Amino acid sequence: MANVVVVGMQWGDEAKGKVVDYLAQEADYVVRYNGGNNAGHTVVVGDEVYKFHTVPVGVLNEGVTAVITDGVVLDPSVFTSELDGLKERGVTADRIKISGNAHVLMPYHRLLDQLEEANKGDGKIGTTGRGIGPCYADKMSRTGIRVWEFIDPERFRPRLSACIKQKNLLITKVYGGDPLDENQIYEEYAAYAAKMAPYVCDTTVILSDASRECANIVFEGAHGSLLDIDHGTYPFATSSHCVAGGATIGTGVGPTMIDRVIGVTKAYTTRVGEGPCPTELADKTGEYIRERGNEYGTTTGRPRRCGWFDSLAVKYSVRANGVSSIAVTLLDVLTGLDPLQICVGYEIDGTIVREFPTDVAVLGRAVPVYEQVAGWSEDVSKMTTFSELPANAKHYLARIAELVEAPVCMLGVGRRRDQSIILDADMLRM
Ligand code: IMP
Repeated sequence: MANVVVVGMQWGDEAKGKVVDYLAQEADYVVRYNGGNNAGHTVVVGDEVYKFHTVPVGVLNEGVTAVITDGVVLDPSVFTSELDGLKERGVTADRIKISGNAHVLMPYHRLLDQLEEANKGDGKIGTTGRGIGPCYADKMSRTGIRVWEFIDPERFRPRLSACIKQKNLLITKVYGGDPLDENQIYEEYAAYAAKMAPYVCDTTVILSDASRECANIVFEGAHGSLLDIDHGTYPFATSSHCVAGGATIGTGVGPTMIDRVIGVTKAYTTRVGEGPCPTELADKTGEYIRERGNEYGTTTGRPRRCGWFDSLAVKYSVRANGVSSIAVTLLDVLTGLDPLQICVGYEIDGTIVREFPTDVAVLGRAVPVYEQVAGWSEDVSKMTTFSELPANAKHYLARIAELVEAPVCMLGVGRRRDQSIILDADMLRM
């Protein structure tokens, strides 16, 4: 094994957690490099369901160091409660490391996220309301609070004071909201800071030493490439670098240290929040996929918009991430749908296009062009090898691989850790 980035190729929720969890069995480090608790990764081990929002999924494996790096925005209230929850379930938490350079997500970020969304009316993004955009905005405008300052009582109080003063002006004068109470926030957050302090360090040193010692590092991408701030469907995107390149920006590990990129895609398409999703099905088939796939947000519980597999979107992500191979998840959800449709082009303003448009207004006018393929009715959820799969499922996967121009290394046929089919372990690992 080597240094592998696991990245979502659609609009998030591709079941990356399951792929990371699989790889974590051989990993020494699992690293979260972007986003915050807008992400939600679910891992099912036997009958145990673990839901992660900030802590890397790899923490479930003894021997894995779980690292939260510079590119992440960390909500201390969520992190500390996740930490307590893991400890209660017997997971050893002292293997968690947090970068002092990560930014701290404060209550005013959450409040401003909600106020800004409400103020946008019809133009809203449909954010998770977790304060992610405002926290990254502070980071970019160089007014954010980093973890280093947060855990240093001498620095935290004056920084908080300055921030609250400015945010309260925004909250009250621009949005007509109620001001936040600095003392109350300080007391609550100083307690979180004390709890977080033992986990904080310079994670760049840990990861560069690990690379030199040829340790196995899995970079756990959050969200999906189509939500990337630069390469996604802006402005209907999140505020971080979700693509594989984010693994180097967000960690301080140089690009030459990355050996392989595994792109994760569902066997169909989902999207949460606003913004175009050309293959969305607002009909009984969309409903069927939603119910069979339990397509409700891990973080917000919102029903996801469901539709047919969009090969243009995934091919675009293969390119944007330099994907080595793909993992196709939730194949079992398509059982019983016959025929299936695969989007192989868009009709836009009377012209057929084969590339995913990066202008969201153009994407919004795209009408999918479908290729019909035969479905299957066999239960694939207990199958453990590719050869057992129904011929039509094999054909479906082969067609997807051909269209997106990447080989398939792994399949997901159910929620549990053991419901995975490995097609090529070498491609998956190295
Ligand atoms: P934010 O990240 O909360 O600012 O939300 C921006 C957009 O990204 C919204 O459409 C969210 O629904 C979407 N989003 C953010 N994180 C995820 C995720 O992990 N899965 C799916 N959608 C997400």
